[in-house]
Amino acid sequence: MPQDDVFPVPPGFAAHAHVDGAEYDRLYGQSLDDNDGFWREQAAFLDWTRPFTQVSDTNFAADDLRISWFADGTLNASVNCIDRHLPAKADQLAILWQGDAPGERRTVTWGELADKVNRLANVLKGLGVAKGDVVTIYLPVIPEAIVAMMACVRLGAVHSVVFSGFSAEALANRIEDAGAKVLITADEGHRGGRVVPLKRNADVALAGQPSVAHVVVVRRSGAQVPFTAERDLWYDEAVATAEAYCPPVEVGAEDPLFILYTSGSTGKPKGLVHSTGGYLVHAGTSWRVIFDWHEGDVFWCTADVGWVTAHTYKIYGPLLNGATSVMFEGVPTWPDSSRWWSIIEDYRVNIFYTAPTALRSLMREGEGPVAKHDLSSLRVLGSVGEPINPEAWRWYHSVIGGGRCPIVDTYWQTETGAVLLVPIPGAVANKPGMAAKPYFGIRPEVVDAEGNTLEGEASGNMCFRGSWPGQARTILHDHARFVQTYFAPYPGRFFTGDGVMRDADGYYRITGRVDDVINVSGHRLGTVELESAISSHPAVAESAVVGYPHDLKGQGVFAYVTLKDGIAESEELRKEVVDWVRARIGPIASPDVIQWAPALPKNRAGKILRRILTKVAANDFQNFGDTSTVADPAVVDDIVSRRQDTLAKEQA
Ligand code: WTA
Repeated sequence: MPQDDVFPVPPGFAAHAHVDGAEYDRLYGQSLDDNDGFWREQAAFLDWTRPFTQVSDTNFAADDLRISWFADGTLNASVNCIDRHLPAKADQLAILWQGDAPGERRTVTWGELADKVNRLANVLKGLGVAKGDVVTIYLPVIPEAIVAMMACVRLGAVHSVVFSGFSAEALANRIEDAGAKVLITADEGHRGGRVVPLKRNADVALAGQPSVAHVVVVRRSGAQVPFTAERDLWYDEAVATAEAYCPPVEVGAEDPLFILYTSGSTGKPKGLVHSTGGYLVHAGTSWRVIFDWHEGDVFWCTADVGWVTAHTYKIYGPLLNGATSVMFEGVPTWPDSSRWWSIIEDYRVNIFYTAPTALRSLMREGEGPVAKHDLSSLRVLGSVGEPINPEAWRWYHSVIGGGRCPIVDTYWQTETGAVLLVPIPGAVANKPGMAAKPYFGIRPEVVDAEGNTLEGEASGNMCFRGSWPGQARTILHDHARFVQTYFAPYPGRFFTGDGVMRDADGYYRITGRVDDVINVSGHRLGTVELESAISSHPAVAESAVVGYPHDLKGQGVFAYVTLKDGIAESEELRKEVVDWVRARIGPIASPDVIQWAPALPKNRAGKILRRILTKVAANDFQNFGDTSTVADPAVVDDIVSRRQDTLAKEQA
């Protein structure tokens, strides 16, 4: 790689950073030599009610999987996130909230946050929520989302946040799987000037859900929404009359903190279960180091509260450290595409963390919207959710960061809980598009298809050897699937489902998913989940979904759809199928391309040959590899000629 592709740590940055190059080398080495010793020291970051005596008890063998950290310690997450910053920070700002509408703002001090959390915890307690119960949260990006999460964990209850862009049906599936006792939602959400009918969706989702006895409704828009008197209660009315203090419930380090659903390679979303002690240690200590946060800095992570990025690095990381953060309800392009840059200027944001997909779309607008704003407060930039292409990286670095801010390209997953690969900003030089080097205590391995560990420069499957405290402990109700998915493919290692390339300097570049998951605008979608949504349409006989390269989204959703006998292909039906998927999963899952396929290419055993479908979707009509297994070659010819026809029409 030519030297101009290396961006050294900016001059002067390392001197003030938590970790510089020498410290990274020393501490990384130590963290591998004495892994328990390293994490024991890190765990001192938390306030433990009863200190732990044992650090790790882990074993990655699929037939005897054990992941346990700090097991005999006890603590409460909300005490660590809030109480311990009081009274010192009572009047300082915890949350700077910017509503969807430019004029709409709120601030929340640490004292106010504590008050809100205690009161809501008492409300939930009054509704019968106790340690171990699940509460589903379906809220927009408003301070009450954080209050709700913290109120749950104050009681030792487990939160399950569902992205507010998910449909009623997707919400229903997640409520049912978790057996949630209470749902916390809002009347409506606001995004990009549009209204999201959250309460209406919630009502649809709750029909036939016996587990949910109560719904707490936050008044966000003030609109008239349906209200079921015996079941629903208004948040503001309930907290107004609640007791102002709720004693925190002591939980064990291995007790669950939250569930978060993500898509996998089968149709059913997986509810990953995270622990309290290990997760908080990894989230809190890594957040501080990877963003090089210092007291007084303003941090802003643009992720929606429904994703793991927000859990770990927008909510838990900053709260555990007593940091001030910006929370923005809207979208980067409304009212215009300078929205983010104006927020950075207004709030003097120092650390900004976002996803490549948004950068790519903002990059298209040119430098005009950026140039209007003073972004000189920025010191560190972050990227997450998908590989960042070098072109977007360079734009981020020069246009947004003014060439002076290191970019922390953080590689991790819902399953890993917190970061695994990252160029720590004062320590590791940047290479565009590379998540670079392992975080402390993390042992990456590049593994070939046979499970051999590759050394030096290599490409293969991204695995990790040895446990880390933040990793998920299981899939709710499906431990066998947890073992099977992550620990069985390459014995002794955790398999991420991603491909990776390691260069001669030991830098890692994630190359994208190698399983049946596609990453659309940084959101994970299972192809099987999409197929079952499409195939449930009454006109559809069968479907196959693959990802294809998309300029803005990274990957787009390409659906091959076989209609039932006698049903005619039409534009209306195409729209109907798209709307059908939006209603079943949510707008993020909208197919970008639907190609009618009178038949799908299969082998003689009836298995769909996705390899061919993926090539055709990427407009690669040649390199199909071995096609001798195709049961009916004419099917492939038809699929290719239909795709070529569409391309010809698009170009005409
Ligand atoms: C992808 C988001 C390249 C990857 C934290 C992973 C990335 C999936 C990066 C997890 C990155 C995340 N570079 N790819 N920096 N970060 N990914 O669970 O494919 O929403 O497996 O967690 O996103 O997505 P998830």
